Amino acid sequence: MTQASVGADAPILEVRGLGKYFSVGGGFKPKRLRALNDVSFSLRAREVIALVGESGSGKSTVAKILARLEQPTTGQVFFQGRDILAAEPRRASLRYRSKVQMIFQDPFGSLNPLHRVRYHLARPLARHHRLAGAELEARILSLLKAVGLTPPAEFASKLPHQMSGGQRQRVAIARALAVEPAVILADEPISMLDVSIRMGVLNLMLKLKEERDLAYLYITHDIGSARYVGDTIMVMYAGHIVESAPSDRLIESPAHPYTELLLAAVPDPTVSKPKPLGAKSGAPQLIDPPRGCAFAERCPKVMAICKKEDPASAEIAASHHVRCHLYNE
Ligand SMILES: Nc1ncnc2c1ncn2[C@@H]1O[C@H](COP(=O)(O)OP(=O)(O)OP(=O)(O)O)[C@@H](O)[C@H]1O
Ligand SMILES: [Mg+2]
Repeated sequence: MTQASVGADAPILEVRGLGKYFSVGGGFKPKRLRALNDVSFSLRAREVIALVGESGSGKSTVAKILARLEQPTTGQVFFQGRDILAAEPRRASLRYRSKVQMIFQDPFGSLNPLHRVRYHLARPLARHHRLAGAELEARILSLLKAVGLTPPAEFASKLPHQMSGGQRQRVAIARALAVEPAVILADEPISMLDVSIRMGVLNLMLKLKEERDLAYLYITHDIGSARYVGDTIMVMYAGHIVESAPSDRLIESPAHPYTELLLAAVPDPTVSKPKPLGAKSGAPQLIDPPRGCAFAERCPKVMAICKKEDPASAEIAASHHVRCHLYNE
């Protein structure tokens, strides 16, 4: 299919069949690592999709492809119905880059330590909106206020090291907002922050979503925070989306054995409490992956077919998709 979905409820961002291989090892015979395989989903305006999965499952690769920091090996990305990789194959347009913004895990790493907050916000405002002088300063102060950094004039003059981690992440959020995005890709935005201030940053993100009609792809290891912010949860394993459903439904009626394992590892999934996933042994083999389901080696419900054929995605209830042979008839 090459046609994008259209209509009033059309997704703002739609991904079809994304695959990504990385060359690893170098030398005469570099190996191919399969980071993503057949990843498809769509994100609507004001929707929050939480992407959950253990380390190495491919979450950041999805975000980086959407931010155009990586090129996929296969697949399509539609932004507001436009096939963006075909339309802008080499480099994303300024417009696309302003509409789809990324927030990273480490706010310190994403800010230049030598520059004050004012500089970090002035750059995108000058570049995308051609603002200068008093107008520019007013916009900087209003962005800082919007992310709860008050008094804004004081924060505008601070250097990154003069703020706490949470304050730095708020600056990173303000910088993303400066260009008036429609989609924010938030890659573990709270995982490096003190536990005590995480909720504050998540609540800020939710408030900004309402005020500015944003859509989020929220990446996390923590299923508790995924449920808290996500309308939809997508579970990734070894580069596949193995299950996706409305958040409450996914937590209450998980269908994929891997999702069950994830939930079993969290004593109370309603409590937001970061916990590394996949504590059980056995990392998936991404280089020369074996035939069949990537989870077969670890799956308590494995069947003969699981080691032969890759399961297709099945819709087992409204908006509840599972990629598992238990549901493939
Ligand atoms: N530039 C790269 N070159 C080679 N391999 C890569 C590259 N980027 C990612 N990978 C590999 O691709 C796989 C997916 O990586 P990715 O960073 O997307 O995982 P993740 O789910 O974000 O993990 P984490 O939770 O640790 O951030 C991993 O095996 C990783 O080692
Ligand atoms: Mg990552």
